[in-house]
Formats: sequence, structure tokens, C-alpha cells
Amino acid sequence: MRGIAVVTGASSGIGAATARALASDGWRVVIGARRADRIDALAADIGARSHPLDVDDADSVAAFAAFVAATDEDEGGAVGPGRLLVNNAGGAFGWAPVAEADDQQWRAMYETNVLGAVRMIRSLLPQIEAHGDGTIVTVGSIAGHEPYPNGAGYNAAKFAVRAAMSALRQELLGRPVRVCEVDPGMVETEFSLVRFGGDAERAAAVYEGVTPLTADDVAECIRWIAARPPHVNVDQLVVLARDQAGARQVHRRTGAS
Ligand SMILES: NC(=O)c1ccc[n+]([C@@H]2O[C@H](COP(=O)([O-])OP(=O)(O)OC[C@H]3O[C@@H](n4cnc5c(N)ncnc54)[C@H](OP(=O)(O)O)[C@@H]3O)[C@@H](O)[C@H]2O)c1
Repeated sequence: MRGIAVVTGASSGIGAATARALASDGWRVVIGARRADRIDALAADIGARSHPLDVDDADSVAAFAAFVAATDEDEGGAVGPGRLLVNNAGGAFGWAPVAEADDQQWRAMYETNVLGAVRMIRSLLPQIEAHGDGTIVTVGSIAGHEPYPNGAGYNAAKFAVRAAMSALRQELLGRPVRVCEVDPGMVETEFSLVRFGGDAERAAAVYEGVTPLTADDVAECIRWIAARPPHVNVDQLVVLARDQAGARQVHRRTGAS
């Protein structure tokens, strides 16, 4: 029996797939996101617990952390010692050159991707550490390794995520908590729809002529990381589709733009 696994941003894409994978591996899964109807339906389907969560909002994060602690108490010591946090909530907002940067979009990306992950860690670290076998997996991006034109706001946020996780790994050295990062390339989820403000045609064009990763492909990586023995820390895992060789190098089949 594994312990409690928290997944943020579990209402779609990688987070939802990760919650499914972890539940099937025997974790007691607790999921959060802003769209409560979606997480409630997923929780009912996979036998998880759900609670609304906005990682941008410190009060919401505190309420969510209290819910996780209550889950622990409800289980009355029936779950295993492992405690896992998957910091997945995030995304890109907009597509513009630096010279036309939108302050609000840049702030929002920093708020959710960087501060959101940091708030979750700050709130849950005591619980994660107390059980003697903790793991924090944060979903970064290839965008945090390679900047690309029109992506600087998202690049800056994901570079910051990588810096924070690297510092955290050093700060927790000697303590029973692993700090891991999964950095995917192109994954077909709602990511591009969100980035382009709901423009479905523009979002679909991102994946035209390409076989991108699926949310399940990334969830499988996270499941594998979480299943390593406690002394094994997968620091960083970069996972790309075969059709992608870097943030900007994508192979598209003939006939596609
Ligand atoms: N798809 C890709 O190509 C790709 C590549 C590299 C990295 N990533 C990263 O992978 C992660 C998951 O993205 P995805 O591809 O699965 O996209 P997605 O389908 O758009 O999922 C994003 C998830 O994050 C949640 N979220 C956003 N803002 C939130 C907030 N303030 N509080 C709580 N939850 C929030 C959303 O839920 P609600 O809207 O219901 O709150 C949703 O569940 C993100 O960190 C993204 O940056 C994606």
C-alpha cells in the first residue's frame, strides 16, 4: 500500500492522467483544480478525493492543505508512509514577442507556474516530510531549458520553476524528501487552447502533422518516478515526442504546415 498522493491541476491533461495512473498504482490520491465539477467527476471515477484549489490564492492553498491533512487523519494510519506531491497546475498564457509583452499575462504565468508550486510545497512540506518518505514532482517544460520567440513569458516562468526546484533539492539534502522535475515537450492537452485564449483552430495547428506526446505518456513518467525506491531521486526527466528535437525543432509530415 502506497501513501497519499496529491495532484494539482487534475481537471484536465497531464494532471488528470497522472491522478488515474497513481490511483491504479495504489496511491490514496487527492486532487485539486479550480473546475470543481471536473475533479469531483474524476475523483468518483478513480476512487480519489477532490477539493477545489486555486494555486494562485494562498487561502485556497491553505484550505486544500488542511483537506489533505484531514484525509490523512480519516485514514487512521491505514495508508502507507509515502507522501507524494505532483505540482502540475500551470500553463502558458499568450504568444507575443518581448517587445509586446503583456504585463498581466507574464504576471499570471509567474503566479501559477512558479508561486503556485512554491505555495503548495510550503504548505505541504511538513506533512510530506513527517512520514519519512516524501517525494515532490514538479512539472516544468522544455520551455524551461530553451527559450523560443514569442514564448519568453512562459520560458521565464518555467526557467524559474527549474531554479526553485534545484535550490529546494539542495536545501532538503539530508532530509527524507526527493525533489524531482519532469520537463515535457509538446503534449496534446488543453494547454494550447488555454495559451491561445480558446482559439481551437490555432491550438489544433500546433499539433498538425506531428505525433505529440499524450497526457498518459507524461503520467507514465511520473508514475515511474514515484515508484522508484526512496533512495533514488530522478532529478530531471526531459521527455519529448520523437517528432521533436528541442523547443523549436519539430518535424511535421508533408502536407502539414
Ligand atoms: N501540454 C504541453 O505541451 C506541456 C508541455 C510542457 C509542460 N506542460 C505543463 O504541464 C502542466 C499541465 O498542463 P497540461 O498540458 O495538462 O494543460 P491543461 O490540460 O491546460 O491542464 C492544466 C491544468 O492546470 C490547472 N490549473 C491552471 N491554473 C490553475 C490554478 N491557478 N490553480 C489550480 N489549477 C490550475 C487546470 O485546472 P483548472 O483550470 O480547472 O484550475 C488544469 O487542470 C502545466 O504545468 C504545463 O505548463 C505542458
